[in-house]
Parts: sequence; structure tokens; C-alpha cells
Amino acid sequence: KQPTLIAPSILSADFARLGEEVDNVLQAGADWVHFDVMDNHYVPNLTIGPMVCQALRNHGITAPIDVHLMVKPVDRIIPDFAQAGASVISFHPEASEHVDRTLALIREQGCQAGLVFNPATPLDILEWVIDKVDLVLIMSVNPGFGGQKFIPAALEKLKRARKIIDDSGRDIRLEIDGGVKPGNAAEIREAGADTLVAGSAIFGQSDYAEVIRALRG
Ligand code: DX5
Ligand code: ZN
Repeated sequence: KQPTLIAPSILSADFARLGEEVDNVLQAGADWVHFDVMDNHYVPNLTIGPMVCQALRNHGITAPIDVHLMVKPVDRIIPDFAQAGASVISFHPEASEHVDRTLALIREQGCQAGLVFNPATPLDILEWVIDKVDLVLIMSVNPGFGGQKFIPAALEKLKRARKIIDDSGRDIRLEIDGGVKPGNAAEIREAGADTLVAGSAIFGQSDYAEVIRALRG
């Protein structure tokens, strides 16, 4: 079993002090930086792009940057994020005309490729692209905003995704995103998630290390 990784979503950080916030959360024990990209088209919100990713690298952040693209179309922004220092790039199949091609493009650009499943999106397509995927991200809220409530059906979806990944025998991380808190982290980990995104749960508290420890279990 993979060790659990904690990926704070900087969506809930103080953007006026972003470099410092990311330094603090990494010093508090976070493993990855979860970077939410929203375009006011695929999702009803607008956030940050490759320039901010590059700014974090220039600031000296060396931890993996886990880019969660909620943009449509998706392909043309991928090389920009790869050049800006992204480590993992994940996208929603609904936002790509050709999912297989987009996955290949991410790897060609030197990044790890992730596929994101919305609460109502079935896992079926995984069967056909499992060899091109490095990460499966299960959404436990509808994408677009931090601070939403965890949708319980995501636990069953995590279990099914865990089985698909284990049966494949491949080295694929299983990430969960949305409404993750110390109070539900144990059942989320038991359902098979090995990478936990948390935004409001971490940045809403003053002691980041304490929350991160509680999430890791
Ligand atoms: C939602 C984003 C999440 C969000 C999580 O569209 O993908 O990463 O920031 O925030 P919390 O942990 O507050 O639900
Ligand atoms: Zn996200």
C-alpha cells in the first residue's frame, strides 16, 4: 500500500501571500501542492494559470505541483503548465474531445497524467486508458468552489477505483478532492484513497501541521 500523501488546495490559501502560504503548508508536512485551475467556462469560477505556477517555482517551491485543470478546451494549456513547472496534470474527460490523446500529450510534455471523475461521471473509460494514467482523481464535490460538503457516494466510487487500479497492477495514485476533513479522512483512506486534497480544512485553521497530521491518520 502507498503511503498517504496530503495535497493542500491553495484555492483556500491567502492569495496575497501565496508563496509564504505554500512554504508554511509544506513546512507543516504537506507532500504536494494542489493547484486548482478554473476558467469560468467549464466551471463557474476563475482562478489561476501557468504564470502563478511558474511564480511558485521561482519562489523556490520544489515539492510536486499537482495541477487540477477545470478548463475547456484543455489541450492547448497543457504545454504551458508543463513549462511552468507542473508535476502532475489532471483533467476532466468531459473537457477533452480526445481523452486518449490528451493523456498522451501530458506525458509527452514530461508530466504525470491524471484523469478526474465528477460525482456523476462513471469510471468506465478507465478500462481503456489505464496504461496511460498515473493518477485517478475522484471528485467528492462538483468542481468550481472550495468549502463544499463531501458527497458520500464518492466512498463507493473510491472502492471501485481502488479495485480497478489494484487489478491493473499499475503504479497509479488514487486521489480524492472536495470536502475532505479530519472527521471523514479515516473512511476516505479505508475506501482506498492514497492522496488527499484538502483546501478549507487546512487553510481555515491556524495550525496547518495539526490538520495535516489528522488527515494522514
Ligand atoms: C474544487 C477544487 C478543490 C477544492 C477543495 O473544484 O477542485 O480542490 O479547492 O476544497 P475543499 O477541501 O475546501 O473542499
Ligand atoms: Zn482540485
